[in-house]
Amino acid sequence: MYNIIVFGPPGSGKGTQSKNLVREYGLVHLSTGEILRREVRDSSAIGELINKFMSRGYLVPDYIVLKSLFKTALQHQQSKGLIFDGFPRNTNQAVLLEKILNKKGMKIDKVISLEVEEEELIRRIMRRARKYGRTDDVAEVIHNRFVMYEAETLQLKEYYKKEGILCSVSGMAPIPVVFE
Ligand code: AP5
Repeated sequence: MYNIIVFGPPGSGKGTQSKNLVREYGLVHLSTGEILRREVRDSSAIGELINKFMSRGYLVPDYIVLKSLFKTALQHQQSKGLIFDGFPRNTNQAVLLEKILNKKGMKIDKVISLEVEEEELIRRIMRRARKYGRTDDVAEVIHNRFVMYEAETLQLKEYYKKEGILCSVSGMAPIPVVFE
């Protein structure tokens, strides 16, 4: 099994490159953003709670994310590998991920960090907003998503650098070039 974290700020291409990795290597894509959006679409009680955080650009509480994610992740223990897209997003999530994987005899092999300048991130998100109208792709919420990234998530780069598994990739080029 080969397990990867695709890491980066909002709009850096995590989802796009994860889909390419799935196509090329047959890995299983676990996007916490997608999993949470599905819960919101299902309009369950937990979906309503999740929406309160997501629609403002704040991180959803760890216990909700972990429950939703591992329910899906542990169904794929026999796969070629997992891609974690949008997870972990804080140190607590990173520590718990490691613990849970270790218990199952699994580990994270590589963290791919997509590096993209902020102006380009905003351009991409605004372009997507015009096309798909994702509810958190509006100016005030985008701002909060960046604030959360800086405050909670960015520090994980140092965490994985110390573990020796961080690999930084420029995400500024066209999609196929970044993938290569
Ligand atoms: P999530 O869905 O993970 O959103 P995000 O991190 O803000 O990232 P995006 O989906 O905006 O961007 P991306 O990096 O995937 O880029 P993409 O490939 O789409 O999370 C949403 C919310 O859910 C969070 O705010 C939080 O509330 C909650 N949440 C999720 N995970 C959580 C967790 N673990 N804990 C707590 N809460 C959590 O690309 C963006 C656009 O750019 C696309 O249109 C794409 O076509 C285009 N593009 C991509 N690459 C290129 C390129 N190289 N050149 C030009 N255009 C490109």
